Order: sequence, then C-alpha cells, then structure tokens
Amino acid sequence: MLQTLAISGYRSIRDSVLPLHGLDVVTGSNGSGKSNLYRALRLLASAGEGDVVGSLARDGGLSSTLWAGPEHVQHAAVDGGTPIRGTRRSGPVSLLLGFATDTLGYLVDLGIPQPSCTLFGRDPEIKREQIFAGTFAKPSSLLVDRQGPAVRVRDGSWRPVGRALGVSESILTEFSDADATPEVLRIRSQVRGWRFYDQFRTDRDAPARVPQVGTRTPVLGHDGSDLAAAVQTIIESGGVDRLDAAVDEAFPGSRLRVRADDAVFRLEFEQPGMLRPLSAGELSDGTLRYLLLVAALLTPRPPELMVLNEPETSLHGELLPHLARLITAASADTQLIVVSHARPLIDAMLEAGDVHEHRLVKQLGETLVADQGLLSTPPWAWPSR
Ligand SMILES: Nc1ncnc2c1ncn2[C@@H]1O[C@H](COP(=O)(O)OP(=O)(O)OP(=O)(O)O)[C@@H](O)[C@H]1O
Ligand SMILES: [Mg+2]
Repeated sequence: MLQTLAISGYRSIRDSVLPLHGLDVVTGSNGSGKSNLYRALRLLASAGEGDVVGSLARDGGLSSTLWAGPEHVQHAAVDGGTPIRGTRRSGPVSLLLGFATDTLGYLVDLGIPQPSCTLFGRDPEIKREQIFAGTFAKPSSLLVDRQGPAVRVRDGSWRPVGRALGVSESILTEFSDADATPEVLRIRSQVRGWRFYDQFRTDRDAPARVPQVGTRTPVLGHDGSDLAAAVQTIIESGGVDRLDAAVDEAFPGSRLRVRADDAVFRLEFEQPGMLRPLSAGELSDGTLRYLLLVAALLTPRPPELMVLNEPETSLHGELLPHLARLITAASADTQLIVVSHARPLIDAMLEAGDVHEHRLVKQLGETLVADQGLLSTPPWAWPSR
C-alpha cells in the first residue's frame, strides 16, 4: 500500500508530503490545489509508462507547471502580511515527485535542460531518479540511483549499469531485463497498475456510448470505452449480484445487461415502465457516469491504487450516499484516493467507513494540508543533484 506521496514544485504545491491510509479523501475549496495533487500523481504514474517527460510537456511544460512562488516562503510574510519578495534561488529549479510503500519507494527529479542548440530545448529532463527500501530515501537505503545519464544499482556493493540513459528516459522503462533488479520491476508494475478515473466523458460522442468489440476486461479503461465488456466481465466473474444490487440501489427496479452482436458488445439498461432496454447512447449523462463508476468500483481485479477525481460531477445529490457506499466497499480490496468537493459524498463516506480526510487550504498561493503538523508528516528526503 502507498503510505507516502511527496510532491515539490508542482503548481501550487510547493512542498508537500502526504500520509496515505487506504481510503483517503482530498477536499478543499475551489482553487485550493486538489486537481494539482491529482495531476501530480498522474504525472508520477506516467513515469511507469516511460512518458513522464512527454506528459509534463503536454501539461504545459516545466515553465507553466513549476511552483510560481518564491523558493522559500517567508513566515513573516505569512503572519504579518508583508509582500513576498523574490529571493536569490539557492537550489536548482526542480519538480520532484515521489511515493513510498512500507517496503519500497521511488522518486524522480525533473529539471530544465542545459542550454543547447535544439528545438526541444524546453523539454524537461530527468535529472535524478532513486529507488529505495523503506519509507524514504537515505544513503543506506538506496537500491537504484540515477544521476543524469549514469545509473548504479546496489546488490551487495554498487555496480554501474552499462548503458547511459537519455534525458527523457526513465529507469523504470529503459532497463533491459538483465540489468533490471526485482525492485525496478516491482515499482514499474505497481505504477502501471494504478488506475485514474477523471470525469468520464459523457457527451454524445463519448467513447462509453459507442458499442465496442468486447474482450475480457477485468479493469475498466481510463476513458470508459470498454464499459460493456467490463460489465460483462463483472457478470461472468461472479459479481452479478453485487452489480444488480448497486444498480438497483441507485435506480430502483433497473438492471444492467450486455448484448453481443458478433463481437460487438452493447449495454442494455432495463428500466421499469420501458418496453425495451436503453442503450448507452440513450442514457442521461449522470446515469452513464454512475454506471461507469459502478463498473470501475466493482472490478473483479482490484488495482493496487485507484484514484477518482471529482466523481460527483453531474451526479444528483441522491446518488452520492450510494456512491459513498460503493467506494468504501471497494476500499476493502483496493487502495483509493478520492478527490472531491461534494460535502454530502465525503460525509457519507466518513459515516460508511474508515476514511481519512485531507483538507487542502491555500496560503499565499501555496497549497497546504490543514492541521498537518510535523508529527503527522511522514519522513521524506529529496536528493541533491
Ligand atoms: N505554476 C503555478 N504555481 C503556483 N500556483 C499555481 C500554478 N499553476 C496553477 N496554480 C494555482 O493552482 C490553483 C488551481 O488549483 P486546482 O486546479 O488544483 O484547484 P482545485 O482545488 O482543483 O479547485 P476546483 O475545486 O475549482 O477544481 C489556482 O489557484 C492557481 O492559482
Ligand atoms: Mg479541480
């Protein structure tokens, strides 16, 4: 299980180390930095696909994503309201992302490139990556250490890895199997298994509305395009009762089934009073979004981590307690982070299960976690370059 998430220099998150517990809800008012936290986590996950530099470039590049405030926030300014003045920077410009489970952790340091004559001169570069044992990186716990192009691996003593890495290549994807230690493979498969569900599209042309060729789908895709196949997989994996209960609870008397024409799978939503079932193309936005969440949360193969970003969007208030129960039930088998500003959803979750709430607040432009003190902040250490 992820125990710690650490972010430094990402948009409004100047320096945050967040303890995670299993089912964590991130709340806060508009602009407090919830989506920034979600996007930082997603960026971290893209390292497992070897795409952290590309994702960051698409996210606006380092110049836009880097914390726009001063390197150090002056406490006098916080207390007394004096204006913030830029001070001379003492450390390099960097965006740092990392996580740790109770046994293993990973961190990456992204920075701006050295000036060179290339049209890609604004691409961020991976400056440093580390894999470590335990809950934070310290010299004695390092297992893999990458500094610029050079990588070394510790098995007994430090051994350099033959190939030099390019500035956009991550140790998580570029190691040959001979060089990859079990820890690299473990972190890679862990990060690749994380699932992010972010405001499924429900417009007329949304992928979830279009019939698709169905193959066994134990985990719903990020965009929901394989909804019918995911629902059928739940049904055939012994989850039909849970599916029926979840649908009936939210839409009394209704039932969700799948019809296959050749290999093309179509959803059929049976409702009381209707002479024929409705297809995914005919469902309301809120109904479709709720069914997508049902399919995601009833997955027969729970991912190690599932992150839901504002799952309440376009759902009627009456559905939120049902959604809260689905989320808390799913958290028995999977670690969940829910980013939300729907108080009824959060309250219903707090009532239904063992939920930890992290309330984000903004202070002088910086995202802070309310009531998080030194004692409730997990230990964490960023490497120097
Ligand atoms: N590079 C940056 N440096 C510092 N702050 C930034 C940077 N980029 C964006 N921000 C700040 O981040 C905030 C947006 O945060 P975010 O989108 O995470 O809010 P939110 O909590 O998701 O809000 P909402 O509830 O409205 O979705 C804005 O207030 C913006 O000022
Ligand atoms: Mg947001």
